[in-house]
Amino acid sequence: KAIAILKELQEKCETPTGKLRQVVDAMTVEMHAGLASEGGSKLKMIISYVDNLPTGDEKGLFYALDLGGTNFRVLRVLLGGKEKHVIKQEFDEVSIPPHLMVGTSEALFDFIAAALAKFVATESEDVNLSSGRQRELGFTFSFPVRQSSIASGALVKWTKGFSIEDAVNLKTQKQLDKAVKHTGKLLPIRSVGQDVVGELSKALERVGLDMRVTALVNDTVGTLAGGRYSNPDVIAAVILGTGTNAAYVERAQAIPKWHGLLPKSGEMVINMEWGNFRSSHLPLTEYDQALDVESLNPGEQIFEKIISGMYLGEIVRRVLCRMAEEAAFFGDTVPPKLKIPFILRTPHMSAMHHDTSSDLKVVGSKLKDILEISNTSLKTRKVIVELCDIVATRGARLSAAGIIGILKKLGRDTVREGENQRSVIALDGGLFEHYKKFRDCMESTLNELLGEVSETVVVEHSNDGSGIGAALLAASHSQYLEIEE
Ligand code: BG6
Ligand code: GLC
Repeated sequence: KAIAILKELQEKCETPTGKLRQVVDAMTVEMHAGLASEGGSKLKMIISYVDNLPTGDEKGLFYALDLGGTNFRVLRVLLGGKEKHVIKQEFDEVSIPPHLMVGTSEALFDFIAAALAKFVATESEDVNLSSGRQRELGFTFSFPVRQSSIASGALVKWTKGFSIEDAVNLKTQKQLDKAVKHTGKLLPIRSVGQDVVGELSKALERVGLDMRVTALVNDTVGTLAGGRYSNPDVIAAVILGTGTNAAYVERAQAIPKWHGLLPKSGEMVINMEWGNFRSSHLPLTEYDQALDVESLNPGEQIFEKIISGMYLGEIVRRVLCRMAEEAAFFGDTVPPKLKIPFILRTPHMSAMHHDTSSDLKVVGSKLKDILEISNTSLKTRKVIVELCDIVATRGARLSAAGIIGILKKLGRDTVREGENQRSVIALDGGLFEHYKKFRDCMESTLNELLGEVSETVVVEHSNDGSGIGAALLAASHSQYLEIEE
């Protein structure tokens, strides 16, 4: 019976090339719709106000904050211009205490500001600024933000597990517990619709830090900027981490909803927020539906819920639960731990999936340590490895289809007469970095879909590129730029 459940899942999760091509087409259709008008599509296609990517000329000392991935980071970068590039780069990683997650937005921003102040205090003489200048900061905030300029924007909604609008809107303790349980990440409660930079700036003032935020960017936009700095052929960035999303360089004239002046570069970076993509072509199962309904943001972020690191392990747990209940997969009783949502995390799943020992001892030890299930047979363990493979493969192949969607929108998915342009995609995020089978499958699917074009398309790991990207954008939007010119 467990095998029957597995086979049924496998069929429902299948992503043959033809299906992936339908997903690619649906993605490009939605991209057009999202660019045409505000609210025109599930894809928000957010205008980032970044119309100039780093050139290498950026100079001076800049700070960056990175909030929304697994870790909260502060960075200091000394940029030396064309010849010297990054002269010095320092960073600190700080985890946010759990109580701040359920506190007020002030408390959270105060904490961030204090961490930054502490870091600024370690600034050494040799990187010191020219006298009297205000320090400048790039802020990577990895949530959908409706930007109103390069350095301002309002939070559209929480993703990756948070849907709490406001402390006062929080109806019950139960709701709060659910929120905490649903994410391994520690995120704040704050009002949707607030200006993110305004909140941060107030907190900076409160801790007595004289600093100005000159760029507010999504992590995908930061990664794109950081990627472009080291490689001029970078045209898009994708995050495969707790959440998933992509940003790319679009022709400004191909954005009907943009009513501002045409940028000199003729280009504009678009934050797609592709996590919210959905299509009838996506292979969804009963497990995905149940996960979605019980999530904090039902009906939203469907693409993200079948691809990203926050959810893959949870999908596996749900399938195991059904096997335990209906096929006595772990014996006569259902192991109690298996019933706890989000207990099985994607790193555990990855460890089991990569187990190469003949008796699958890693699978055995994960089952024991995390789910308190002992004495599993080799046969049982093999089924679990197969299950991990089905869930990871679907996610990896769909993320490849998303990337092809971007290339197709840009006309870079086919070979063109006389053109030999390289398209480099900067990738970052824990899932891409640590889940090797996922990454390998994503890359081989790209080749499968691209055929002969695959030679001109390159995937590059941009390690923590979003922090340096934010610092670079802070530099190119510095208030002192004109004085220098
Ligand atoms: C980091 C980037 O490397 O990856 C962050 O600096 C980004 O900006 C993060 O949000 C995403 O990965 P994860 O796995 O931490 O969600
Ligand atoms: C979520 C966020 C998005 C972010 C992505 C990766 O999808 O909505 O803004 O880029 O996660 O961190």
